[in-house]
Amino acid sequence: MKQRLALPVGITATGQFYPDRIVTNTDLAGMVDTSDEWILSRTGIRTRRWVEPGVGSSDLGAGALKMALERRGLKAGDLDAIIVATVTPDMFFPCTAALIQHKVGADHAFGFDLNAACSSFLFALTTGAGLVAGAGLKRVAVVGCDVMTSIIDKSDRNTAVLFGDGAGAVILEQVEEGLGLLDFEHRLDGSGAPFLCMPGGGSLNPSTAATVAARMHYIRQDGREVYKRAVRDMAEVSRLMVDRNEINTEDVALFVPHQANLRIMEAAAKRLELPFERMASNIGDYANTTSATLPTALHQSLEAGKLKKGDLAVFAAFGAGFTWGGALLRWAY
Ligand code: ACO
Repeated sequence: MKQRLALPVGITATGQFYPDRIVTNTDLAGMVDTSDEWILSRTGIRTRRWVEPGVGSSDLGAGALKMALERRGLKAGDLDAIIVATVTPDMFFPCTAALIQHKVGADHAFGFDLNAACSSFLFALTTGAGLVAGAGLKRVAVVGCDVMTSIIDKSDRNTAVLFGDGAGAVILEQVEEGLGLLDFEHRLDGSGAPFLCMPGGGSLNPSTAATVAARMHYIRQDGREVYKRAVRDMAEVSRLMVDRNEINTEDVALFVPHQANLRIMEAAAKRLELPFERMASNIGDYANTTSATLPTALHQSLEAGKLKKGDLAVFAAFGAGFTWGGALLRWAY
């Protein structure tokens, strides 16, 4: 199997951070016209975490990054760059990477934010790996953090039940030959933009009393349309990672899909002919945390001993844009 990057680059540590407040489906049924049965059967979600007012994505991201650094035995000052995947930056600017850099004390790091909706973390991961392989950086942190409760309309049952807040982080470094990121495929189709977007607050529709009254500062989603595309595209790109690299699916130890809906994840796993136990799943406890789904699902699978050095892992993501993609890694530690 040929490595796609000029140097072998892999994940060498992971971390996560969630707010303490647990919100159940029954709690939501007290806020909008829904039920535990509807949410669980349609999405697989039982609970999610919500931040208290005054907590931003950078707070969650800094917590996750601190854990990843500690696991690797590194100091924040050892980092060369911090890439932050998020659709809910603390502010438009400065970038959330700068806020996290300051919070953890990463004195020598540059950084930036990357937004590709729910594919943000995956695209940031390969971007970070490219900086190590192609630009000689030694240690790059990739942080996925989102406070989705800042952009969901808590009176809209179509979206309020789907999302949660959280953060995950990984450290990228050069690893042994044959290990690390082996292949990836990333895609973009802007014709999907109207089906999943937050129309207000940007340069096209700057915030005014009228845009706020029209609730344009919240997520809008045509769930059915997004569902169809997510099932098709996430399954196809996962399958591509396996077929293009001539892998037997029995050799895939862990499938880490974006956690938007358990039914979408199961459809992708089925297309890979993988048993359910080999799919990383935290949607039940944490719902869709957007940029945080992949690194937290990965972190929790590692904690559960589901991945060891030399194992193959397939990542897959799908999000607004539409954006989607897959990656193949041989586990490095
Ligand atoms: N409780 C009760 N009823 C509800 C709720 C709710 N929380 N939400 C919607 N309904 C109703 C709808 O109003 C609809 O009623 P109607 O038939 O009278 O119009 C009915 O349930 C069925 O609605 P559907 O949209 O067909 O339900 P579906 O089975 O498709 O599930 C869901 C909806 C969960 C949103 C699903 O479509 C989905 O997961 N879509 C994809 C999400 C996704 O992948 N997003 C991408 C990533 S997110 C990002 O990038 C930020």
